[in-house]
Amino acid sequence: MQKLHIEGGRPLFGHVPISGAKNAALPALAATLLTADTVRLRRLPNVVDIRTMTTLLQNIGSAVKRSPDSCEFVAKGDLDPVAPYDLVKTMRASSLVLGPLAGRCGRARVSLPGGCAIGSRPIDMHLAGLRSLGATIRQDRGYIEALAPRGGLVGGRIHFRRPTVTGTEDLLMAATLAKGESVLGNAAREPEVVDLANLLIKMGARIRGAGTSTIRVEGVAELGGADHAIIPDRIETGTYMVAAAISGGDLTLDGAQPEHVQPVIRKMRSAGCEVETPDATTITVANGRPLISVDVTTREHPGFPTDMQAQFMALMTQCEGESTVHETVFENRFMHALELQRMGAAITIDGSFANVRGKTRLSGTDVMASDLRASACLVLAGLAAEGRTVVHRIYHLQRGYERLADKLQAVGANIRVVD
Ligand code: EPU
Repeated sequence: MQKLHIEGGRPLFGHVPISGAKNAALPALAATLLTADTVRLRRLPNVVDIRTMTTLLQNIGSAVKRSPDSCEFVAKGDLDPVAPYDLVKTMRASSLVLGPLAGRCGRARVSLPGGCAIGSRPIDMHLAGLRSLGATIRQDRGYIEALAPRGGLVGGRIHFRRPTVTGTEDLLMAATLAKGESVLGNAAREPEVVDLANLLIKMGARIRGAGTSTIRVEGVAELGGADHAIIPDRIETGTYMVAAAISGGDLTLDGAQPEHVQPVIRKMRSAGCEVETPDATTITVANGRPLISVDVTTREHPGFPTDMQAQFMALMTQCEGESTVHETVFENRFMHALELQRMGAAITIDGSFANVRGKTRLSGTDVMASDLRASACLVLAGLAAEGRTVVHRIYHLQRGYERLADKLQAVGANIRVVD
């Protein structure tokens, strides 16, 4: 199994190109199932989750044509509306095909995802939403089956108990082909939801309010093809912002979207970093001064993203004073704290709170990644640590960070993938 070797203590300088957002690309791929016409997607990140989703689309019956800067998807002919366990177990976001398949084919059979390293992560809100659009849901041998009424899904009112990102995306896709108007209340406002809505609108969907808590969809009889570039990855952006700060360097992030990372920019500035946004696609982060403690509470967008919590915890180990993390989105997202402790961090956990006392000297050792963002946290800690850090189970990183080791090497990190 591949590992990452990092020799810490080198400040990073230079430019990092930001890739397309994994979490915007996944629903965009699912959306290609809504039409028999060609959908061309640009800026798809070359990461394992995107390849898994592409395999799932091919299993369902899509034809996929790759070219150097885009990928075309055509879902016509007989589709087999099934997401099998083997794919769903490696990627929970497979449940994003539930809505489009129920909308387009009138039925969908998707394996239940099972356990997850960051919490129980049920999909009950996806299912309740589909019921509101007229679908019958049943569970059978580990699979969820959604069956639309004879004439197809019908518009309905959905109120999410709490905002759910993929739940909102799933139902948004289902509602585009439902008869009549649907209203999604307490919807997620993440930029990835807005990007999906923009793609669907290009395909002919009638959607208002994406990016607010109330999204209205007027169903149409069919959708057509489109050409769409995925937004930049705000979590990858945030991760390299922390890399600049924790290494004591100065990085310029190219091809980013600063307005999507405002909550992270604010916290970086509170921690004493110099963050500038010289234009609409560039962010610079420099850290010449000592870092100071900062408190973070994760929240749905536009709050501080839970997907940046682990990386910030690594940063907090290098801040003077006591920092607190309050994780409110997922119930079990502190696995990285135990590994950071093994590197010398002073962290105590109490339920959904973590207290980090800094600044501590981190020393390199063997550490184990438990999920994608936890892995990123350990890489960042490795950049600041003395000696060699070996990050095991880097397949988690490969699910969501495009060429992470190459990008870090290019700005001066001593990091390499070892078989
Ligand atoms: N929830 C339910 N029932 C549901 C759906 C969600 O109780 O039916 C709960 C979850 O357990 C969680 C909260 O609602 O406590 C919010 O979860 P959400 O549904 O928003 O998460 P998600 O859609 O499964 C996406 C991202 C995650 C990111 C979260 C939160 C994708 C593919 N995944 O997950 O990204 O952490 O939103 O922002 O978009 C990652 O990229 O590393 C990652 C985990």
